[in-house]
Amino acid sequence: MRISVIGCGYLGAVHASAMAELGLDVIGIDVDESKIARLQAAEPPFFEPGLPEILATATASGRLTFSTDIADAKGATVHFVAVGTPQKPGSHAADLRFVDAAVEALLPHLNPGDLVVGKSTVPVGTAERLAALVEPTGASLAWNPEFLREGFAVKDTIEPDRLVYGVRDDHAVEVLDQVYRVALEAGTPRIVTDYATAELVKVAANAFLATKISFINAMAEIAEVTGADVTQLADAIGHDARIGRRFLGAGVGFGGGCLPKDIRAFTARAEELGKGESVAFLKEVDSINLRRRDRVVDLAIDALGGSVNDRKIAVLGVAFKPHSDDVRDSPALDVAVRLKGLGARVVATDPEGIENARARHPQLDYNASLDETLRDADLVVLVTEWPEFRGLDPVATGEIVAGKRVIDGRNSYDPAAWRAAGWEYRGLGRA
Ligand code: UDX
Repeated sequence: MRISVIGCGYLGAVHASAMAELGLDVIGIDVDESKIARLQAAEPPFFEPGLPEILATATASGRLTFSTDIADAKGATVHFVAVGTPQKPGSHAADLRFVDAAVEALLPHLNPGDLVVGKSTVPVGTAERLAALVEPTGASLAWNPEFLREGFAVKDTIEPDRLVYGVRDDHAVEVLDQVYRVALEAGTPRIVTDYATAELVKVAANAFLATKISFINAMAEIAEVTGADVTQLADAIGHDARIGRRFLGAGVGFGGGCLPKDIRAFTARAEELGKGESVAFLKEVDSINLRRRDRVVDLAIDALGGSVNDRKIAVLGVAFKPHSDDVRDSPALDVAVRLKGLGARVVATDPEGIENARARHPQLDYNASLDETLRDADLVVLVTEWPEFRGLDPVATGEIVAGKRVIDGRNSYDPAAWRAAGWEYRGLGRA
């Protein structure tokens, strides 16, 4: 089976490589020439654990090729659309221009019997509209949302939790079953449904995850004024199997290319459908999340006696989460930029995210060395819980800094151990 993958960003590059790893013939297509040149040289254009290895094997075997010419999709019988759906400038709605352009460019190259498979996260109703464009060619359309997490994208693609097919005909189910044969044989649950449900599954899952994080962060706000400890609270409620401990990590909140924009786009779409009130709570979820960034900035001001001006602050992390170089809507980078805006001498470090952060915020000072970042700092702020930051020894770290003050924006440290080493420790939702 030969497939094309249109869009070679985080989603498409991983999907193309993983499908080739599973034995399919794959052509990855993107309009960005430099991205395609790097992929052709088996160099991932972003950091993702496990991707370099499968990309190298698949390109060397000839099963995976790349092109900037959409006409090269001809000859494939399944075409995955994996382009981005960013937030529209000046609005909360999803910007569908890349999805629309990809499908329109593909139309002249489709043959009867081909299947176009949407993977991008889209507002409910998009698949129905695109099917009307695809079907006159004799091809059909399926919506097959992707649930991969950055940092675990290869594993999540090869061994997904579940497969969701939004389809209008049995042919699409047969074709997708062939594509996902390995996962299905391993027992992966498969839900076959209509377009609207498939589109909604994706946004509902992300809305639920965002809500879970903001729920615990709301509890952190209450803990902060009552002396309670939100991490113990999370442990205790998480033992209830109906609640579960995962995604109850209180801290500086969620960011990245998905959760923030997806809850906003969902709200915007619900409003268009006249059902804004059904998801009005997602606005609160967003506000709670953004308030946690304010809280970290306020704690920094407090820790430094009322002003951060001209004080050295070591910011540990710029990526939106560990094991990723992605800085899109990163709480960590946002905090660093705001502290700098308040006059602090900010030095930020991150194992993978510095290059992307510098491209967006060249005004910040970055240092790849953790020790140099910490040296002579008046305050240490942990905002992305990379293992190397979590593993810092409070005694040894105390010898490099100028002032033993730490803000643990991810509740990653043992407050007792840091206090015992002489540090002023401030966590989120912790006394
Ligand atoms: C998310 C979804 O998990 C994935 O299924 C979907 O396909 C894309 O969006 P991703 O953005 O890669 O994936 O990251 P995820 O691991 O979900 O983390 C999102 C954000 O939430 C990060 O900023 C993370 O730091 C934060 N988070 C996560 C918390 O603040 N607390 C938690 O307990 C968990």
